[in-house]
Amino acid sequence: MPIEKIIVLEDDLIVRKNLEQQLRQRRYDVASASTIAAAQEYLAKDNFDLIFLDVRLPDGEGTDLLKLLQARPQKPLAVMITGFGSVESAVECMRNGAFDYLIKPFSTEQIDIVLKKAESFTRILKVNQFLSQEEASAGGELLGRSPAMENLRQLIRKVGRTQATVLIQGESGTGKEVVARSLYLESPRADAPFIKINCAAVPENLIESEFFGHEKGAFTGAMNKREGRFELAHGGTILLDEISEISPSVQAKLLRVLQEREFERVGGSRTLKVDVRVIATTNRQLEQSVEKKEFRQDLFFRLNVVPISVPPLRDRREDIPCLAESFVGRFARKHGVGPRSISAESLDLLQRHPWPGNVRELQNVIERAVILSTDSPVLDPEHFGLALPPAPHPHAAPIVAVPVGVVIESASPPASVTVPVAPPAVAAAPSTQPFPSLSELEQRHILASLEKTGNNRTQAARLLGISIRTLRNKLQEYKANGAPVEGLEDVAEGE
Ligand SMILES: Nc1ncnc2c1ncn2[C@@H]1O[C@H](COP(=O)(O)OP(=O)(O)OP(=O)(O)O)[C@@H](O)[C@H]1O
Ligand SMILES: [Mg+2]
Repeated sequence: MPIEKIIVLEDDLIVRKNLEQQLRQRRYDVASASTIAAAQEYLAKDNFDLIFLDVRLPDGEGTDLLKLLQARPQKPLAVMITGFGSVESAVECMRNGAFDYLIKPFSTEQIDIVLKKAESFTRILKVNQFLSQEEASAGGELLGRSPAMENLRQLIRKVGRTQATVLIQGESGTGKEVVARSLYLESPRADAPFIKINCAAVPENLIESEFFGHEKGAFTGAMNKREGRFELAHGGTILLDEISEISPSVQAKLLRVLQEREFERVGGSRTLKVDVRVIATTNRQLEQSVEKKEFRQDLFFRLNVVPISVPPLRDRREDIPCLAESFVGRFARKHGVGPRSISAESLDLLQRHPWPGNVRELQNVIERAVILSTDSPVLDPEHFGLALPPAPHPHAAPIVAVPVGVVIESASPPASVTVPVAPPAVAAAPSTQPFPSLSELEQRHILASLEKTGNNRTQAARLLGISIRTLRNKLQEYKANGAPVEGLEDVAEGE
């Protein structure tokens, strides 16, 4: 319920008591006053979501208070109450920022209509505020014509129509968020909010408040009450991105929301009910996290009602040409360069690359190539700066490894991808040397950054342009694979 606190300012005792009673029955928190002065006392102490405001009052005009309210940052919606004789002034109030008006005597139905309008207006306002804070997220259509993608599209159409909870698994950069959005767009809730929360990006001590909101004063810094993402998503869909990253206590609370569709805000005692469709994503094998007792099994079952797995790009190489073409067009427009095409040789190179960072890596590599191609309308292999094993096709030109410090998981290519300043010309060196794979290069680069920062993981993560959690996961992976790395004994325990 986006509206909670209401103040009634009306000097007619019968009208005021009647309105108060009706609002309390609908479970609103109601304060009431018969003079402007008394109302101002309440308003000085607390924030209200809605005010019912009589136009004629013993100590002044309701319009005067309305004007004062407009200056408040957290102003309540104002519904003017007016007698038959003063309709004109109510209309005047609408011009001055009132939300609506009621003409005395009014019926229960009229109150309900006003409340419903005010509720949905407030909800839209809050969702908009949230969306305007969100970074431009992965958008666009799910591209790819491989059989795997065709199957995925079919599944999305089938599952999208239902209300079922969906768990999307897949390596980083495979397009899990694009799949989640497609599910939302196929669903009957496509007109309702789609609210995302990235569980890996929110610090652990704030995640509960991000999920469920908090009451004023719930913790230091909680100056005002705040709605959580579940409340904002009411009537719509919530995307729990990187769900494997939540702590056991938040896991328990999430389980309750999935089972009962109810929760309390942090620091609050009132139980809130929500109607949301849940979609979760993970790039870790959640079954393994369950086995290792890092993730609750009952929660896993609740999330995994419909599992969708997005295959890595190396298992659907047929998608590469169509993805590459679409990205070239997009980045040529973005960077204001002329039209670009991909040479046959480049396409061959792209199709042979292992793409450990999947579609996101392909996107980054193409953006870089478009930038580096300057005046050339054709993207040639040297524009891509990819390290590859020697070409298996006798007709293909030998390709020289360019050691690029690519940090696969970074979403913002220019900030964190080390662009080779002058890529060596094709065939400038013999191609018989042993080539490190891209993931080997990545590992070396990450370990070198740690060395450079004296094993300071926070600094190293910043240097690499990745989250500390991603860094931690990488290090765990290296350690599990037996990499001889020093000073990482505490890595397995997490931070
Ligand atoms: N099939 C696809 N068609 C078009 N664009 C795609 C496709 N798959 C991925 N992308 C693009 O690749 C980028 C990465 O996709 P997305 O963010 O959905 O990956 P992810 O699986 O959620 O990765 P992570 O686990 O790292 O969050 C996005 O910019 C997305 O738009
Ligand atoms: Mg994602």
